Amino acid sequence: KLINVHVCRFQMAAEPVNLNEFQELARLALPKMYYDFYAGGAEDEHTLKENVEAFHRITFRPRILVDVSRIDLSTTILDYKISAPIIIAPTAWHKLANPEGEVATARAAASCNTIMVLSFTSSSSIEDVAASCNAVCFYQLYVSKKRDIAATLVQRAERNGFKALVLTADTPRLGRREADIKNKMIKPQLKNLEGLLSTKVSSDTGLNLEADAREAMDASLSWKDLEWLRSITNLPILIKGILTREDAIKAVEVGVAGIIVSNHGARQLDYSPATISVLEEVVHAVKGRVPILMDGGVRRGTDVFKALALGAQAVLIGRPVVYGLAAKGEYGVRCVIEMLKDEFELTMALTGCPSVKHITRNHVRTEHERI
Ligand code: FNR
Repeated sequence: KLINVHVCRFQMAAEPVNLNEFQELARLALPKMYYDFYAGGAEDEHTLKENVEAFHRITFRPRILVDVSRIDLSTTILDYKISAPIIIAPTAWHKLANPEGEVATARAAASCNTIMVLSFTSSSSIEDVAASCNAVCFYQLYVSKKRDIAATLVQRAERNGFKALVLTADTPRLGRREADIKNKMIKPQLKNLEGLLSTKVSSDTGLNLEADAREAMDASLSWKDLEWLRSITNLPILIKGILTREDAIKAVEVGVAGIIVSNHGARQLDYSPATISVLEEVVHAVKGRVPILMDGGVRRGTDVFKALALGAQAVLIGRPVVYGLAAKGEYGVRCVIEMLKDEFELTMALTGCPSVKHITRNHVRTEHERI
């Protein structure tokens, strides 16, 4: 029996067939501290589970006898044509997963013809990522008390050809991630912040994450700061972390170019709703004025389809990318994206949707709708 288990693990290591199997490979490949950092969520991890499970409660209303002999997955986000509505979410410290870090992830994004959002807390520099390939990259920003730090980073992103800014707005404080507390998670280098934050924080001294976050993220940031941000850049600004109609309306009023419905992969406020469960509320409030993207718990092509049916223009994936990177480097990230694309394509075929434009609200049934 034991031998069978090993054979099984070996086979899975060789050929994962879905994104969840990449998670298991990453768990086997990484030191526990790093795996827990990537996999964990806030407090009871209620929202972490819900992000995934809320997708399971949505079913399909598939249509038959539609010509699906050709399927077109491609879509356009902020004028950039991408191969499928699947984008790489900003996640911290890819060098914990693979020595090539975000450079490997960006190369995978380029070869899959999709967009990568580079994290503010990336372990590869803006310049190295830009020089490594021709991926369309957006830059994710936190704003620290010293506004000139953000201004410098925005300039560097612009100078290096990044196409948009993603302001993550759900992090006035770092959520309580108990696995990191237990593991005494060390603070890796914040590559882009070298020389910008106080030396105590920017050096690689193993200070805790919370101390870092307090300097890097200004808890007083508010809607009026969007005006300032717009004044220092011509790049389009997307706002990430919206979960209510009220904030969606405010975001449109202050002139954002797009909204990302997100609960930060359930790492901030536990008992935030699953993102897929609030997507429609935001879609109805925005009324098509700006594109809406979503992330949180997307693990299957069926999830991508459900998000689009409920009004998202694209989804972002966070953990699966890091798991792919940890398991098999750049190739692993490519596998993750291509696997999700394949599943999404099959879902389109089986629901009768030859292109993303054919995906409508009528193709899904949420748990509140009576059969
Ligand atoms: C994140 N996320 C995140 N978001 C952000 O705006 N800046 C960041 O630096 C990070 N860092 C980060 C690290 C890790 C390890 C994770 C798992 C997540 C949140 C991320 O962009 C995205 O919202 C979620 O990861 C989406 O959920 P899934 O796909 O991981 O379920």
